[in-house]
Amino acid sequence: MPANDPRAKAPDHVAIIMDGNGRWATARGRPRLFGHQAGARRVSEIVEACPELGVRYLTIFAFSTENWKRTQAEVSGLMTLFRRYILKEAQRLLNKRVRVRFIGDRDRLDPKLVRLMDDLEALTEANDHVHLTIALNYGGRDEVTRATRRLAREVAEGRIDPDSVTAETLGRFLDTHTLPDPDLVIRTSGEARISNFLLWQSAYAEYEFVDTLWPDFTADKFAEILARFGKRERRFGAVIG
Ligand code: IPE
Ligand code: IPE
Ligand code: MG
Repeated sequence: MPANDPRAKAPDHVAIIMDGNGRWATARGRPRLFGHQAGARRVSEIVEACPELGVRYLTIFAFSTENWKRTQAEVSGLMTLFRRYILKEAQRLLNKRVRVRFIGDRDRLDPKLVRLMDDLEALTEANDHVHLTIALNYGGRDEVTRATRRLAREVAEGRIDPDSVTAETLGRFLDTHTLPDPDLVIRTSGEARISNFLLWQSAYAEYEFVDTLWPDFTADKFAEILARFGKRERRFGAVIG
């Protein structure tokens, strides 16, 4: 990598709260699902921009544990969209050497969708050009709760000594146990909240809240945000310089 290459200061792991699909559609007098379809098309553009921007891990929030509160029509439209996305993009992701993982609680998802998720993970398992993680039926509190339940079971069965439990121990029970923590979390659509995304993992992440609605979020906008990240000073609680 040449000196001054922007990739040298790139965040290794970027997490994105892809928000604003509904407002994007409403502004065009179209149903919300039209916005979700436009949003899904943006995903590939951002994934494919990662290697040249120096981003190795990309995690995207597709559906939260709270999104079941939406109308049945929107929820089932989104579930159909996820199925179609996997079927349509699987080969392309494989060819682009993207490794796909899913995080979130699979128990509430349709078994047919879960099978496609498992198959896509298996299909791309040997890839390591970009690590794409899709958060589907994901909530940070739900993830920590599920992890705690599994950890408690190990303790109850005598396999883990409660006094030996550290943050690292709990981390091993999280859905993200194979991933580094995110360095940068981006949220589109102008909302400045995290809506239950990667609560544990983002303890020292930098945040960028941008007004752009997700279907308008281009690779160029992504690159601009990454350039700003390169200028930030991260301290992790210490005193620098
Ligand atoms: C994000 O867009 C996608 C999902 C939450 C599934 P929204 O659907 O939340 O769009 P807005 O926030 O209503 O505009
Ligand atoms: C967060 O967006 C979830 C996803 C992007 C999948 P929401 O639109 O659901 O969040 P709130 O309701 O505005 O907090
Ligand atoms: Mg929203």
